[in-house]
Amino acid sequence: MTVIESNRNFMKSGFNSSEKHAKSDQDKGLPAPSLQVSPKSGNEIISLPPLVDVNMNLSEAMLQRRSLRKYDKSAMSLAELSFILETSCKVQKVLGDNIASFRPAPSGGARHPFETYIVVQNVEGLSSGSYHYLPLSHQLEKLSVNIDEKEIIASVNGQKFVSGANVIFYFAVIPYRAEWRYSDKSHKVMLLDLGHLGQNVCLAAEAVAAGACPIASYDQDISDNLFELDGENAYISYIIPVGKNS
Ligand SMILES: Cc1cc2nc3c(=O)[nH]c(=O)nc-3n(C[C@H](O)[C@H](O)[C@H](O)COP(=O)(O)O)c2cc1C
Repeated sequence: MTVIESNRNFMKSGFNSSEKHAKSDQDKGLPAPSLQVSPKSGNEIISLPPLVDVNMNLSEAMLQRRSLRKYDKSAMSLAELSFILETSCKVQKVLGDNIASFRPAPSGGARHPFETYIVVQNVEGLSSGSYHYLPLSHQLEKLSVNIDEKEIIASVNGQKFVSGANVIFYFAVIPYRAEWRYSDKSHKVMLLDLGHLGQNVCLAAEAVAAGACPIASYDQDISDNLFELDGENAYISYIIPVGKNS
């Protein structure tokens, strides 16, 4: 089978009664993995402000959205960043013992097999550097102060415009969170989930007078290394710079 044929078949891998997934760890009675990667002890934790009241209706945001690659030099407020995180990633409800979590974007089986990392470059009240979002408590875990512009550009295969964004979202997949329930049938669903998550970020960006550009052309190792991800149990799968629109 050629790579193209195999990839086409992967896209066809749906859920139906005649083609059930292989026995998963959930089927075997194993406990569900955690809904969030715990912050490292000693790291600074920053609480995010409550939702801002944005002055844009949904149809406006949907119809005016375009991939934005040129960003204004003005700062994004912490409340605006908080709004984008809350409307895309924040956990609103948990079912049982990590069985499911409900968030603004949908996810197959409510597994949400992602962690959100951000590189902050121009956000009022937040020092530049990398952060990990804690979706259960709507907080940021500070990771590193030194993120080199060259490294950011290298992480997106030389796409220079990305380094002008106020904040860059790096979404990491945590595959086991979905595999625990759906084993071999998890992977297409995770990609569909990521699309939903990305669209929420794009629309939320519009609502705070900013714009986003989804990025699939990126360097796996450089992106993973930015956040010390092992590339196996956690790895970057989608990048979205968000910057103010002039
Ligand atoms: C999954 C995905 C990956 C993309 N990757 C890139 C990218 O690496 N670089 C880039 O400049 N634009 C990228 N784009 C943006 C597309 O080029 C853009 O959506 C398309 O040209 C349509 O324009 P619009 O978003 O303004 O409607 C990507 C979009 C999607 C949905």
